Amino acid sequence: MCGIIGYSGGENALPILLDGLKALEYRGYDSAGVAVICKNAVRVVKTRGKLESLTQKLKESDFKGSVHCGIGHTRWATHGEPSDLNSHPHGTGCVCIVHNGIIENYASLKSELIGRGAVFSSDTDTEAAALLIDDLYRKCGDPVLSLIKASDRLVGSYAIAAVFRDFPGKVYAMRRDSPLIVALSDKGSFIASDIPAFLKYTNRYIRLDEGEIAVISENGAEFFDREKAPVKKRCETAAWTLEEAEKGGYAHFMLKEIHEEPYAVSQTVGPRVSDDGMPLMGIDELSDEKLAGLQRIHIVACGTAMHAGLVGKNVIEKLAALPTDVEISSEFRYKDPILFEGDLVIVISQSGETADTLGALRLAKSKGAYTLAIVNVIGSSIAREADGVIYTYAGPEIAVASTKAYTVQMSALYMFAIRLAYAKGKLSQKEAKDMTHELLYEIPKAIEKALALEEKCAHIAKKYVNSKDIFFIGRGLDYAMCLEASLKLKEISYIHCEAYAAGEMKHGTISLIEDGVPVFALATSERLLKKTLNNVLEVRSRGASIILAVREGFEADGEICDDVLYVPAVSELFMPFPVSVLLQLIAYHFSLCKGNDVDKPRNLAKSVTVE
Ligand code: AGP
Repeated sequence: MCGIIGYSGGENALPILLDGLKALEYRGYDSAGVAVICKNAVRVVKTRGKLESLTQKLKESDFKGSVHCGIGHTRWATHGEPSDLNSHPHGTGCVCIVHNGIIENYASLKSELIGRGAVFSSDTDTEAAALLIDDLYRKCGDPVLSLIKASDRLVGSYAIAAVFRDFPGKVYAMRRDSPLIVALSDKGSFIASDIPAFLKYTNRYIRLDEGEIAVISENGAEFFDREKAPVKKRCETAAWTLEEAEKGGYAHFMLKEIHEEPYAVSQTVGPRVSDDGMPLMGIDELSDEKLAGLQRIHIVACGTAMHAGLVGKNVIEKLAALPTDVEISSEFRYKDPILFEGDLVIVISQSGETADTLGALRLAKSKGAYTLAIVNVIGSSIAREADGVIYTYAGPEIAVASTKAYTVQMSALYMFAIRLAYAKGKLSQKEAKDMTHELLYEIPKAIEKALALEEKCAHIAKKYVNSKDIFFIGRGLDYAMCLEASLKLKEISYIHCEAYAAGEMKHGTISLIEDGVPVFALATSERLLKKTLNNVLEVRSRGASIILAVREGFEADGEICDDVLYVPAVSELFMPFPVSVLLQLIAYHFSLCKGNDVDKPRNLAKSVTVE
């Protein structure tokens, strides 16, 4: 997520803005910038890279003396690669803004504004918002009104802070679906995307609500509603240390990122749904005609990304009846893969820098395959080298164990599978729209319901934390979930885990089952329920402790289960979303009970950029 800071007060604004951006660095970013009003002009200094580069650029600029009001930003690229020009702030000599979120209708706004003579210098969605506000301000002369009018035109999520040349000493802000907070101190007033930005100066803050406009100045803050009527606000006090604040009050980044999943899915799916509710690919080479001609798909990735690919395989084959292979990158790149004309290679990578996946991508390209990347980091190596890219918008994932990135990778694969099935005539337009609607609106709700079961997950973790071996069994999509659950649990709890196709246990592995060995059984498919329960009986009769995760509404026989998790019900094909959240929470609490470093588990790196 981007970081926003605004300040107005009696102190020199630049060091305070840089302080605030430093405190927001944990959010991950690829560029930074500030805008201040000095001698009746809006001055902007911004750069790709880290805050050190911005500080250096400020030193080199002819920008001297102290100023008392300004805005700052750390950018996590979503639209437009990381570059000086795409860095924030964006605007004109009259109005300048910083923005967090996604303006979904930026393209139409941009062409409308260009039609009225506006000149754009970046590839960002933010600049469209900035020039819209500038255009509206020039017509009405009122900063608050121009923001209110802009909010009527902007589609998507935003937290915006703005400075206006004609109103030095004031910072204006508004938000929709992206948080913004105001803080007041004896050093001046602040606007920020998160508490750490001003915690050094005060822990008292005021949350801006949807649709409200905030105006801060040296003397404090004013708030207005959409009718420009003053609004009274309540002050809160953050009882957090800086470190706790960076985690949004959660104990660990991993837990914070699991709780961000409903928002991450909405941010990833939302911009890819057409006005009439169809999934959009937005890539010419993946037009419906090209999709209809596909003969085979190869999904290539590592670790959790590969497990997301396994879910994608199940969904693509189910919906589009197109043969889909899933390959581990490090295997694919050294096996001389068989690729034919009409094959599509999809590489999946949260970081976009995984060496094995990058190597697999290059090999696929060298063999003439069209390559599509599903990546969470804009402008990363894999994103740049693939023929086509579907970006996920989970925001930076700080914890080494991947959670929200996995969920949004799944959501991108579901969107792809729905569009592919429609293009192949396997889904009607209504079916495609219904599934897209469920993905965009029902899945975030189901994830929220699963998050509410955290206490149950913690109880299960506590009960089995001293196990030496843990098994996960399931069939079909549940088996794909078992593989990811097993990886998640072992990589942060350090307990040996294995995932097995439920029907396969009796072919050897069942010899490992003895009294008290925990076996997690996933059973979310009506069609496979009985078969899976039979497999549960097989391991139960050899002494296993059974933790059964079933779809809400299924009958679970308490006699054969030691614990039952009822998974919030969505359409069967979408059950991986609530299931994965519960399994992530279970893994998290296992690690917590073991006293491990949840966010930085031993031996692991967030991005494996070596072979
Ligand atoms: C995820 O929990 C693991 N840390 C790891 O398996 C990861 O998914 C894998 O290294 C792939 O990383 P990528 O998505 O950045 O390519």
